[in-house]
Amino acid sequence: MDWGLKNRIARIISPADNKALMLAVDHGYFLGPTEKLEDLEKTIAPLAKHCDSLMITRGALRSSVNPDYPVPIVLRVSGGTSIIGEDLSQEDITVSVKDAIRLNATALAMSVFVGSKYEYQTIVNLGKLVSEAEEYGIPVLAVTAVGKEIGTKDARYLSLACRVAAEQGAHIVKTYYCENFEKVVKSCPVPIIIAGGKKIPEKDALKLTYDALKAGAVGVDMGRNIWQSENPVAMIKAVNSIVHGTNNVEQAFTLYKQLSGKPNNNKPNQKPNNNKPNQKPNNNKPNQKPNNNKPNQKPNNNKPNQKPNNNKPNQKPNNNKPNQKPNNNKPNQKPNNNKPNQKPNNNKPKNNFKN
Ligand code: 5RP
Repeated sequence: MDWGLKNRIARIISPADNKALMLAVDHGYFLGPTEKLEDLEKTIAPLAKHCDSLMITRGALRSSVNPDYPVPIVLRVSGGTSIIGEDLSQEDITVSVKDAIRLNATALAMSVFVGSKYEYQTIVNLGKLVSEAEEYGIPVLAVTAVGKEIGTKDARYLSLACRVAAEQGAHIVKTYYCENFEKVVKSCPVPIIIAGGKKIPEKDALKLTYDALKAGAVGVDMGRNIWQSENPVAMIKAVNSIVHGTNNVEQAFTLYKQLSGKPNNNKPNQKPNNNKPNQKPNNNKPNQKPNNNKPNQKPNNNKPNQKPNNNKPNQKPNNNKPNQKPNNNKPNQKPNNNKPNQKPNNNKPKNNFKN
């Protein structure tokens, strides 16, 4: 595989742990001003530094993302329909590879509508896009779109759709989580990322994330369940603590609540020092540090993954791999410092990027 292609994929799926947290904000391309995405810039700005890459359209990128902030871009290049139109599956390629290069896209994304009226058109478009993008070393993410029929799509259908996309040469496939998701992952020869789907309660979205990764997905490309959350930053950090960390659902949800400022009722020590007579003695003394003796005071509330690796000798996978710092130009991301799962790819047979 060409160096450029490998390098770009490494900016989407971290080689340190073979995981990916994409933030999807491309919904407007067929849904219009989706709730909480009316003001793109306002929604994206606080979240961009917490994701590995941003899935977005050309127009939204130009109008609403600061070019000085070099988050890797997965550029949606398909479209042509809207939610009020006749048939969502009638998509075509709407952005040229040349324009994607001008926008410094790290990867291209398009939808395929397997089993739909326009199946042929979207699948052929995928094949053509892969051929053209590969000339420039740009990976293609295929979205197995299900239009309005998402409820009816099961592992049998999604396995078929993902496999069809992979056979056309898609480098990453994005699909939906379903029962028996292992089956979908096993029969797809390239990495699978899941969409979050419609907004559901935060804990359920964290469970979806956890279950999908457990079943073999390399990550999430999540939108509504992050930015439609009551606390989007807390939510993306909680999702991250599963994707790039070791948190289970309960731990991630606890983190979400902590970051949202909601008390954690299961942890009595989180009401620090109520009985300590020395509390609040220093109200007028700004330089005093009254909490030095209070070990339980909000330790790391905002830093879920801090120092998780101290006891884990295998967690410095990049020492000999100078190119494995895919996020070097992501000012705030430092994604690998906190990632406890840094044994790259050992159990990830689906990552065939090392061709
Ligand atoms: C639509 C898309 C969206 O990016 C995708 O649905 C992810 O967003 P969400 O988590 O809100 O479902 O590709 O085709």
